[in-house]
Amino acid sequence: MKIIVKKGDVLSYDGDAIIIPVFEQKSGVLDALDKACNNALVQGWKAESGKLLCTKTLGVITPKHVVIVGLGARDKADSSLVKNMIAKAAQQCRSLDVKRVGVYVEPGVEYLNATAVVLGLELGLYEYGMYKTDKSKIKRIEEIALYAKVGDKDIKEARCIARATNFVKDLVNTPPLQKTTMVMEQWARSLTASGVDVQVWNKKELEKHKMGGILAVSRGASDPPKLLILKYLKGKGKPTVLVGKGITFDTGGLNIKTGPHMKTMKMDMAGAATVLGALKAISELGLRVNIIGLVPTCENAVSKDSYHPDDIVTTYSGKTVEIVNTDAEGRIILADALSYACQCKPKQIIDFATLTGAMLVALGHEAAGVFAKKKDRSLVDALVDAAEISTDRVWPMPLYDEYIEAMKGDISDLKNLADARWAGSATAAGFLSNFVEENAWAHLDIAGTAYFDKSVGYRQKGATGFGVHLMVEFFKNMQ
Ligand code: BES
Ligand code: ZN
Ligand code: ZN
Repeated sequence: MKIIVKKGDVLSYDGDAIIIPVFEQKSGVLDALDKACNNALVQGWKAESGKLLCTKTLGVITPKHVVIVGLGARDKADSSLVKNMIAKAAQQCRSLDVKRVGVYVEPGVEYLNATAVVLGLELGLYEYGMYKTDKSKIKRIEEIALYAKVGDKDIKEARCIARATNFVKDLVNTPPLQKTTMVMEQWARSLTASGVDVQVWNKKELEKHKMGGILAVSRGASDPPKLLILKYLKGKGKPTVLVGKGITFDTGGLNIKTGPHMKTMKMDMAGAATVLGALKAISELGLRVNIIGLVPTCENAVSKDSYHPDDIVTTYSGKTVEIVNTDAEGRIILADALSYACQCKPKQIIDFATLTGAMLVALGHEAAGVFAKKKDRSLVDALVDAAEISTDRVWPMPLYDEYIEAMKGDISDLKNLADARWAGSATAAGFLSNFVEENAWAHLDIAGTAYFDKSVGYRQKGATGFGVHLMVEFFKNMQ
């Protein structure tokens, strides 16, 4: 899809359709069009927030269709609404099978900017169509003409974020049979194109370095485990280490999941994909920052060789962990990766993981929980600031000593599940806290935000690519 910027009047666009976002307060462009149509176009329709009006232009202007987007009151709308509504309008145009679409962007409205509009378009029009055999049925918009006062740089940046977000969606949406750890490695290696250095520890190296956590979780799988190590060092000072949970499929292991819970567990590598996507966007944008990405990846499978409940695993840190439940596997592979992160002498560590179903209970699909110790408040604040801009929402959650205490082992240093079933996301974070030493650290549980079971605005059913835009804004502020 081509995106071009045009000057002049959107009503004189020579394409197939136009999209006009309007507020409840009158809009000049819409009035002009309505008048030209003898006031037959809008007829009492109000630009309430979330409403779309799709209608024919009666031959008054060249584009055959107009999609009018309701944004409600000016002071109540925000970039999240803009992205959702532009996505819906674009999807509407695509369903009409139009090829060239003009979009009017009213100047002077802070959140109605090129970034939000381009993201709404590119993310909203994403489709995972890889496995449809009849490609002739796929409809595609070929050109978007933005009638906006924007520089090329803004559009380039937004497209870069969108491309990396859609890259994450492609990775997460890939079916399990196609999602081997070798494929994970290849995706990581594709980032060398933008200057990311990629190293891989295979099973042999994992054994040599005694990464007992990853080795235990991967025992049941025929696919070998890997630790992907990515380096993008283009800034000053100590690196930020990003760690992503890369479980290619989570059956639960011997504590096997039931049908409805196992469905969608191809998404259990969304944290890993986020780390790769963030590095893709940041390296393509050429931000002057130092980042190390760590992706422990394997399958949590069922077989005669699977690790067991009652096993005691010695992690890379030397700390021993009793396996109470093989389905709490993410924290086991993350333990090894977080200890490795400490050896990188980091400025800070941020991990992304689809760690607990309890995160969905707490915040649903609306926000990722960010868990951190009190001393790391400034890191949480920086993440919340980046969340505001990107609309990849994160919400601070507590990491009280009691949660950390709950993970102490009876016959080992730690256990992977607390006795009480409450606060599952917080106790999981409490477990991870044992592996970060004194480093500044934040844990993002993205179980609810990484994958949607139905389409909502610019985020379609399936993978969302949550976290890429968040990281771009976070590192832009850090430069
Ligand atoms: N990958 C799951 C968490 C998950 C659940 C992510 C739903 C996305 C949607 C994780 O490995 C898991 O199985 N967690 C268990 C932990 C339990 C055994 C303590 C859970 O949340 O049920
Ligand atoms: Zn699990
Ligand atoms: Zn899992």
